[in-house]
Amino acid sequence: MTTDLRIKDFKRIVFFTGAGLSAESGIPTYRGQGGLWHEYDWETYACQKAFDRDPAAVWKFHNMRRAAVAACAPNKAHLAIARCEALLPDVTVVTQNIDGFHPLVGSRNLFELHGSLWRVRCDTCGAIKDNRDLPFEDLRCGKGWWRPDIVWFGDHLREDVIEGASKAISACDLLVSIGTSGVVYPAAQLPRLAQRAGAVTIEINPEPTPMSDAYEVCLRMGASEAMALLCQGLDV
Ligand code: APR
Repeated sequence: MTTDLRIKDFKRIVFFTGAGLSAESGIPTYRGQGGLWHEYDWETYACQKAFDRDPAAVWKFHNMRRAAVAACAPNKAHLAIARCEALLPDVTVVTQNIDGFHPLVGSRNLFELHGSLWRVRCDTCGAIKDNRDLPFEDLRCGKGWWRPDIVWFGDHLREDVIEGASKAISACDLLVSIGTSGVVYPAAQLPRLAQRAGAVTIEINPEPTPMSDAYEVCLRMGASEAMALLCQGLDV
């Protein structure tokens, strides 16, 4: 399927991104073929209960993920999204991804719904810090543990992040969803705000998802190919 829609013809654009956006960078998605959760049980490595039970094992898993992401690079689709923000007056990125590739390529108007592999926080004293040193070794923060500043299954999303993302999506005239299976809530329901607000909505995903029927256009192709198509007419 293709489309005559072009990003340059819209005023308020939101890119809603998932793990599929980084698949072309060599980072495994979570579900589908080769998905991370087929190889690792998130209940052992990526939830608060696991961390309370064995913080060192959870840190070992996250240091492995940090090293894997650090060995990869943002791809053409990440760069095109950042370029759209540089060229157009109102572009927002709402991502479920924790790989840090959007800020790495210059996306600034950004909501990281599920946090970042490159930030840590202490739930004892509330401190948060950026850190990219590999592997992350000073695991203790005073009386508590530094934990990855990631929204694990069962965690609440930060109020300010979900509010800001919802506001941008409710006000956009174009929402482009890229590389998400649309099965993890509350993130998965966000595109519905754009649909309810009458925005044009596009799904970029080689596979159909449970949310596909709510999108106006479904581009069954990879992120870079689809962004090259949608960005025609822009110096991206
Ligand atoms: N271009 C676009 N989409 C792609 C590509 C590609 N090159 N390759 C794969 N995809 C699609 C897959 O078809 C799939 O629908 O990306 C989607 C990835 O889905 P998931 O692995 O479920 O990732 P995501 O939707 O981001 O997961 C949401 O689940 O585990 C939690 O917190 C984690 O943020 C994550 C959330």
